[in-house]
Amino acid sequence: MTKYVINGGFSLNGEVEISGAKNAAVAIIPAALMVDGVCRIENLPDISDVKTLLSILKEMGARIKSVDKRTVDIDCSRIGTSHATFDMMRRIRASYYLIGALLSRFGRADVAMPGGCNFGGVRPIDQHIKGFTAMGANVHVRNGIVTAVTGDVLRGTTIYLDIVSVGATVNLMLGATLAQGMTIIENAAKEPHIVDLANFLNSMGADIRGAGTNEIKIRGVRRMKGGFYSIIPDQIEAGTYMAAVAGTGGRVVIKDIIPKHLECISGKLREMGVTVVELEDSVIVQRDGPLNRTHIKTMPYPGFPTDMQPQISTVLCLAEGTSIITEGVWDNRFKYVDELSKMGSSVRVDGRTALIEGVPYLTGAPIKATDLRAGAALVIAGLVARGRTVIENVHYIERGYEKMVSKLNALGADIKIAHHAREDSIFRRRIG
Ligand code: EPU
Repeated sequence: MTKYVINGGFSLNGEVEISGAKNAAVAIIPAALMVDGVCRIENLPDISDVKTLLSILKEMGARIKSVDKRTVDIDCSRIGTSHATFDMMRRIRASYYLIGALLSRFGRADVAMPGGCNFGGVRPIDQHIKGFTAMGANVHVRNGIVTAVTGDVLRGTTIYLDIVSVGATVNLMLGATLAQGMTIIENAAKEPHIVDLANFLNSMGADIRGAGTNEIKIRGVRRMKGGFYSIIPDQIEAGTYMAAVAGTGGRVVIKDIIPKHLECISGKLREMGVTVVELEDSVIVQRDGPLNRTHIKTMPYPGFPTDMQPQISTVLCLAEGTSIITEGVWDNRFKYVDELSKMGSSVRVDGRTALIEGVPYLTGAPIKATDLRAGAALVIAGLVARGRTVIENVHYIERGYEKMVSKLNALGADIKIAHHAREDSIFRRRIG
């Protein structure tokens, strides 16, 4: 079993390059299924969710060629089946995007219900189903398999989402791209990766307008041809390193990013007493003094992202005073708090709200990641804690963070990957 062994207490300094956005990549790869020709996709993050999706496409008959570490050519023109292995689909949440892509391409999709991080109970897909049904598909869920069938093609219509859902917005955009006529998605999600997917599809020949607003209009096209596309930088990976520097202290240049996507994170860090300087495609994050408390409510973009809630909450464990965190997106995203309490934090959770009383320091402990972002938060906890922290279940972290350990070590952290029970630690110069 792989674990991370962190010798905490070092400040972070230097430069870190941010990889391509996970949540854009996991929408764009299934979208390649609908393209008649070769899609060259650049800036793909090297993470396990991307590898799983590429394997699913390959198994269906796609030709996939690695051009370099971050670039692949995907050619789905010869795929003749709408079936993929359910076991592989269950490994990732984003497998549900195959419903929209396969329905669009073949008029039929059989997709295993999504896996991935579990922090919302069942993680419903009722809005996806409502949309596809309105477009003329017959959708049912039986024994964990979603089957969607359309008589001939999907037909454009107006769909109002009852809840702002990233997944439903993406899936319905995929379905609508090759549909007959105009689809309007109202109350759509506005996340940067929704805009990135629309840009990818438009560059392949789709006709999508309004992505990034709450009304997206998609005029169906008959076919899309191949082309080149480069994925946007990962807003949440960048935010995670920003939070890490806020926690440990130090000065780090976060490179290859779009500062606008990070505005709400930068704003909250400034309230906490952290210096954030925005440059053209990087931000400098510096913290020398004490951390101030703050209150945060997570919301769909451009609100504060739920995917940054565990990381910032962890940093607030060391702020002076009481911070209140309200989780506005998921029902059950405070599971990591039990792990933080093993390190001496003082956090009380009541439903979707957490009350964080700042403590002077955390102490290293054996802990377990409970999902991807919770795992990242626990890494931050290990970096700021006194002594040694051993984190289990790091496969969650590797789903979404490219080379997190080597990136942090290059900034001055002391993290080792332990594959066995033996965890020798190299103790180094400690800074506060
Ligand atoms: N919801 C419904 N019905 C639906 C769909 C969603 O009630 O049909 C609810 C959910 O239960 C949740 C809320 O709507 O309470 C928002 O869910 P959304 O559909 O927006 O989430 P998602 O598409 O499943 C994506 C990201 C998550 C991120 C959320 C919110 C991907 C692959 N995943 O999930 O990212 O937390 O949007 O921003 O894009 C992560 O990267 O760690 C991660 C979990």
